[in-house]
Amino acid sequence: MVKLIKSTFYNEYNTKEKLCEFIKNAKQLSFGTECEKFEQNFAKWQKRKHCIFLNSGSSANLAIVQALLNEGSIKKGDNVGFSALTWSTNVMPIIQLGLNAIPIDVELNTLNVSSRMLREVIEKHSLKMLFITNLLGFCDDIDEIRKICDEKKIIFIEDNCESLGTVYKGKLLGNYGIASTFSFYVGHHMSTIEGGAVCTDDDKLATMLRLVRAHGWDRNLSQEQQLKIRNKFKVNSTFYSRYTFYNLGYNLRPTEINGLIGNLQIKYLTEIIEIRSKNFFDLSLPIYKQENKYFTIKYKHIDFLSSFAIPVICKSQKIRDELVEKCKDKIEIRPIVGGDMTRQPFFMKYMKKYADSFNDSNAKLVHDQGLYFGNNPELTSEEKKIILDVFTK
Ligand SMILES: Cc1ncc(COP(=O)(O)O)c(C=O)c1O
Repeated sequence: MVKLIKSTFYNEYNTKEKLCEFIKNAKQLSFGTECEKFEQNFAKWQKRKHCIFLNSGSSANLAIVQALLNEGSIKKGDNVGFSALTWSTNVMPIIQLGLNAIPIDVELNTLNVSSRMLREVIEKHSLKMLFITNLLGFCDDIDEIRKICDEKKIIFIEDNCESLGTVYKGKLLGNYGIASTFSFYVGHHMSTIEGGAVCTDDDKLATMLRLVRAHGWDRNLSQEQQLKIRNKFKVNSTFYSRYTFYNLGYNLRPTEINGLIGNLQIKYLTEIIEIRSKNFFDLSLPIYKQENKYFTIKYKHIDFLSSFAIPVICKSQKIRDELVEKCKDKIEIRPIVGGDMTRQPFFMKYMKKYADSFNDSNAKLVHDQGLYFGNNPELTSEEKKIILDVFTK
């Protein structure tokens, strides 16, 4: 069976050995210096000023929306656009925190939101924020999307949980929005078992995210930031200052175990994404050539494709269903990410009016006619052959 995910980490044995040693000797396992070191390493890798390390990609999505609400940049009842084809916990925080989640369709040949699709939605709804997903390592014309957001004063955030390492027009995905989120869950480009991050260049937003991450208190802020916030709220006693809660927060902290693994795994990140990229071309070129059976996914506009998994969108549901049968006991497959969000029960329950008006979409077609198989740096040539046999013969 060709599995979706083969191991928890790249170079697993070695990483586990180092982890055992670390656990035996560590004085502290809750958030500490390993996590802080990882934040510096990841910010440098992603070429961003700040990285806020959290316990999952979902937590990163929740934290960024809460931070923007705390700052007053958005308020309850505002409209937030999101990619109709995404993962549940990209949309859920928008709904949980009292905002309207407005679905935006994706292009069939990139699986991502384009400036064209965004413009169509803006004609009908005034958006305060845009929180789109860079799906499966791909993107559409995200530079144009950024321009529209700048023009219309829409706060632009990227969910980059699936596209760590992709470069478009000379810039890493995750660096187009004012902030972006990442997941380090098993099977993603880099794993810390569970883990996630928000990256931004905005100092104030980074401070707010640190506050949101831990209880709404100021303990993980710099001394200068602590002084500022304590003065603002006239907290001048050390007895109370450690237990003053300045704004709405959660506990979304990772542990030193995640931090240590992050610091070990980030050393392999470039190697991992290069192998994934090669796998993508080895597999997708012969598969996408079958134009009578599958839609082609466009990728030539992307400078470097950091592939997450390999999507196959069939020309009919019948072809897809036959493939599902053929893959049984041979290749582990699944729907494209979370499918069309507007058809998920949670969305119909809370955002029915937007679900009802979202018909005949590409997201729906992908939901009905798409599937993906995994891409990981440990795929062997035998496994690639099995995949090609099933998808091209
Ligand atoms: C686009 C997207 N956003 C968010 C998440 C959530 O990340 P996590 O599993 O780390 O909570 C995922 C998970 O796969 C995802 O694909």
